[in-house]
Amino acid sequence: MNESSRFVVLGVSGGIAAYKAVDICRRLVDEGCHVAPILTSEATRFVGAITFSALASEPAQTELYDVKSRIPHTRLGQEADVIVIAPTTANVLAKIANGIADDLLTNTVLASRAPLILAPAMHTEMWENPAVKANIATLRSRGVIIVDPEYGRLAGGDRGAGRLATTERIVEAVLSQVSGRANDLEGRRIVVTAGGTKEAIDPVRFLSNRSSGKQGHAIANAAARRGALVTLVTAASSVDADEGVTVVSVETAAEMLDGVHRVAAEADVVIMAAAVADFRPANPQGHKIKRSEGVPSIMLEPTVDILASLVEHRRDGQVIVGFAAETDDALEHGRAKLASKGCDLLVVNDVSEPGVGFNHETNSVVILEAGQDDVSTGLASKYSVANVLLDRVMRRLAQ
Ligand code: CTP
Repeated sequence: MNESSRFVVLGVSGGIAAYKAVDICRRLVDEGCHVAPILTSEATRFVGAITFSALASEPAQTELYDVKSRIPHTRLGQEADVIVIAPTTANVLAKIANGIADDLLTNTVLASRAPLILAPAMHTEMWENPAVKANIATLRSRGVIIVDPEYGRLAGGDRGAGRLATTERIVEAVLSQVSGRANDLEGRRIVVTAGGTKEAIDPVRFLSNRSSGKQGHAIANAAARRGALVTLVTAASSVDADEGVTVVSVETAAEMLDGVHRVAAEADVVIMAAAVADFRPANPQGHKIKRSEGVPSIMLEPTVDILASLVEHRRDGQVIVGFAAETDDALEHGRAKLASKGCDLLVVNDVSEPGVGFNHETNSVVILEAGQDDVSTGLASKYSVANVLLDRVMRRLAQ
């Protein structure tokens, strides 16, 4: 995607959460967006325009009557691929709901056909006020995307609904608009595996690995938000899945094999992000092995290669994705694995690099596909990596 198709107008209105918009600005630039910030005069009481100018793709604007640029609201409104206002105060919300345009931000909104995303932030009493609720309902009915505020600690130290949504949620709402990803996976059945399996030695001990399941969960959530019907077969101990995702919790490689095959036959896509054990104790003990029994010798036996079995039973047109977590010569091992496993796409990461793989919030992967150029994500959030992978899956499905 080229940068010109990601022109984001970032509106900031005057609430304490305005400081969080600085991070949103930086994240959108990191994601390759061209970010043009507009601050209301109230926003500048909370955070300086110069901060945004330093981080954004062009200087922050605050004035409707600016002698330097000609009719800025029309330029920004027309060029925008998306307008996001974070935070949106109750006042700005009311103005937009009623078509009032009395400053640069509200004029830009009115002078634009771009999708509009509002991330409200205000005190609970305001958020629950019938006038605000009515404005939200009006805006939603016009197709405005509302990134609902969250429950949490508010500026006054009290707790309640009204806290600005996380940077992650707001950035993803923007990215799904500019990338044409919204609902592009609608009706597709996608199976995702996640987490490291646990193989029992005895009732209290097991063999496992360092996988947290975060990348697999991010793929499942991203696919569901793009309209897919997602089944997540996960061995992770803590599961962070959206409501729309069907979760099948498993522990061992054998349970994962069973869980995946129950749903794979119907799936358009299977993504094996799980770190499945290659070996398991051949004779798990039924009782806790006591120290007094001496050091046990644990015989291992191989598990079934689930990915290979999926490839073997693949249905027509099904896209199968494998993962490879490597620690050296990652690309070389990855290419060999793509060929030997027979999957369509192979996602390789070098988990010895800082910030990559196990238990991090970020990842950096290269997506390999036979006969196609490699796609490299660079260091990005696991959610962004998930969307880049799903873009590639989408392309493959379309072939
Ligand atoms: N995988 C699987 N079943 C297994 C082991 C692995 O389906 N029993 C899948 C993983 O989910 C991943 C891919 O195979 O998508 C590659 O896993 P990896 O452990 O990197 O591959 P191996 O073939 O086990 O190779 P290595 O010798 O590097 O461990």
